[in-house]
Amino acid sequence: MSEKNTPIGHPMQRLRRLRQSEALRSMVADTVLNKSDLICPVFVTEINTERTPIASLPGVERIPLAELAAEAKRIQELGLKSVLLFPVVDAAKKTTDGREAFNPNGILQQAIRTVRAAAPELIVFADVALDPFTSHGHDGVLSTDGQILNDPTVAALMKMSVTLAEAGVHFVAPSDMMDGRIAAIREQLDKSHFENVGILAYSAKYASAFYGPFREAVGSGARGLDKKTYQLNYANVREALLEAQYDEDEGADMLMVKPGLCYLDILCRIRQQSHKPLVMYHVSGEYAMLKAAVEKDWLDEKPAVYETLLSMKRAGADLIVTYYAQWAAAHLFL
Ligand code: PBG
Repeated sequence: MSEKNTPIGHPMQRLRRLRQSEALRSMVADTVLNKSDLICPVFVTEINTERTPIASLPGVERIPLAELAAEAKRIQELGLKSVLLFPVVDAAKKTTDGREAFNPNGILQQAIRTVRAAAPELIVFADVALDPFTSHGHDGVLSTDGQILNDPTVAALMKMSVTLAEAGVHFVAPSDMMDGRIAAIREQLDKSHFENVGILAYSAKYASAFYGPFREAVGSGARGLDKKTYQLNYANVREALLEAQYDEDEGADMLMVKPGLCYLDILCRIRQQSHKPLVMYHVSGEYAMLKAAVEKDWLDEKPAVYETLLSMKRAGADLIVTYYAQWAAAHLFL
């Protein structure tokens, strides 16, 4: 910098010029958040006949099948484009191998049919994993000596995916982290003439402490359930890049990173290696933290939620799964 430009009050670069008004700031913004970026998770229950609250997810409810059509219409009317369905299964139907997952008339399959009929514009994603259907809460088939068996689990997920496709799902979303499941599911769907049903792969799903409220919501196991033999170690980056690459090579249409805020660096790195749409899952524990602080009046909800979701777009996400979807659609895009 030359002498001439250094006197106080005469900086050479005045970046603040472009921050002077809301209009100008929005014109030079790198990143935008749209309603269509948000995927709305929905818990569908076969246990209750009424909507039931989830203590650790304030504002989110388990929806009985009889209420699901109305819920789907509401979501569509809010201007959201998609839902991600999760089942809440009767404990009497849970087994060590989770076979209820591929019952063609199971709660998840019925939920897909209901949403497709009630809200034809909505894009329907369904989670593919065994944990809502297993007595132990693990995402896979458990052997008698306590191992999660990879290939028998993949076989179950293939069957499950076909029943979801038969019910009319647009995308299956395998969240189990078994090896080779994307290729196996793709092949099985194609063989069954569901070549237009897509796969959203939970590619980099970490063994996180932030899934607690979700497990309460679906009743899938005790706090501290250890999934470290299949979910990623959060010390690792390169392993996530490999998972994402393999899922892409195996035929995934979209790749997901999960959880959100603690993993923005992972999403950013995958963005550099992949041209597929990327999804970030703003998980239950992250939602719960925000809600708890808002309830205590320690945070201002609108700006805190906006900043959180926008940061995921900035890191490179095209889409965000968030329990805030309905609230955001109603409050953030006025
Ligand atoms: C299970 C599954 C989990 C979530 C989505 N699918 C929980 C887990 O792996 O134990 C968590 C989502 C959330 O916390 O919001 N297949």
